Amino acid sequence: SSIANKMNSSLGRTIKTVTVIGGGLMGSGIAQVAAETNHQVIIVDQKQEFLDKSLNIIQTSLKRIIKKKFEQDQQGGEKYFNDVKNRIKTTTNVNDAVQSTDIVIEAIIENLETKQKLFKQIDQVAPKHTILTSNTSSLPITEIAKDVQRQDKFGGLHFFNPVPVMKLLEVIRISGTSDETFQTLLNFGKALGKTTVSCKDTPGFIVNRLLVPYLLEAARMIERGDATPEDIDTAMKLGAGYPMGPIELLDYVGLDTSKYIVDGWKKLYPNEPSFQASELLNKIVGEGKFGRKTGAGFYNYK
Ligand code: CAA
Ligand code: NAD
Repeated sequence: SSIANKMNSSLGRTIKTVTVIGGGLMGSGIAQVAAETNHQVIIVDQKQEFLDKSLNIIQTSLKRIIKKKFEQDQQGGEKYFNDVKNRIKTTTNVNDAVQSTDIVIEAIIENLETKQKLFKQIDQVAPKHTILTSNTSSLPITEIAKDVQRQDKFGGLHFFNPVPVMKLLEVIRISGTSDETFQTLLNFGKALGKTTVSCKDTPGFIVNRLLVPYLLEAARMIERGDATPEDIDTAMKLGAGYPMGPIELLDYVGLDTSKYIVDGWKKLYPNEPSFQASELLNKIVGEGKFGRKTGAGFYNYK
């Protein structure tokens, strides 16, 4: 990008230790990729059972990768698996996890107040050099960083699901982000094997500003009776070359997370026509169906 080109890549620091807060769909993928690229990783979640689940997601994904990467080399595959696993620790104690870390990547529930509170706490206990980042899908990074003193060491790192497969990383700077921090984030993205794009702190950054309104319109098509979920998905896969149709993708992203994104936007930008809610999405979430991760959403996965 033009901003990146103007900057000197030697300006940034090297990230060695990574703290991932929230070990769900995204946090587990981020932790895995960081560990696979030789970083020391700690995952934080609220309960041990969530951490166990996180490690399970990582093991399943690693096995898929190793099956291909080490097809003819079982020993190499086992070594890779153990080396990656040994680089990942878990804890339920945030303060412990950030004691000596180079970067924090927050991937908890998509709720502004919860994120603000978390960063206020981390800012008080993390070492001075630690960079703080959020993987939010939709919330303004500036708002998430509101109560943080180290504005120069704050930014956004927006990954895509499934993190081990998707090559993009959106890197977001806010007005206080220093050139050194921004360059460190770009370098870190490269070290993770991702292609980075530079984003301003605008709603949904690049991908979700385009993707989420499309996903919502697909849900509203079902509501209006325009087409069936199956036909919408088939149409976009075969007619527009998408790897997944929009309804499948909503289930894949998580319907709870999708609803949080829309609700947050509706609150912040009530007059934006492309950020309108879907009654059907709200209804399915109300039934406790959050998509593929819970076994049911628009479709059934059991
Ligand atoms: N871990 C490791 N490997 C994985 C994996 C995982 N979790 N998921 C898939 N793979 C691998 C498979 O092993 C397979 O590898 P090979 O082709 O080398 O054998 C490859 O990925 C393809 O997988 P599948 O054959 O099972 O299925 P597929 O061809 O449909 O690909 C997919 C799966 C990559 C997920 C693809 O369907 C896809 O790209 N879907 C769209 C995903 C997308 O749009 N993500 C963005 C969501 S929006 C977001 O993330 C932002 C936000 O804030 C909400
Ligand atoms: P998820 O529900 O799968 O996981 C969230 C995890 O965070 C859970 O394990 C939960 O126990 C934990 N958590 C919640 N509050 C916490 C706290 N205060 N401290 C520690 N852990 C806490 O959600 P997800 O899909 O992984 O999304 C996480 C974040 O990433 C959200 O901000 C979301 O918008 C963003 N995101 C999601 C996607 C996606 O496709 N699902 C893609 C990119 C970004």
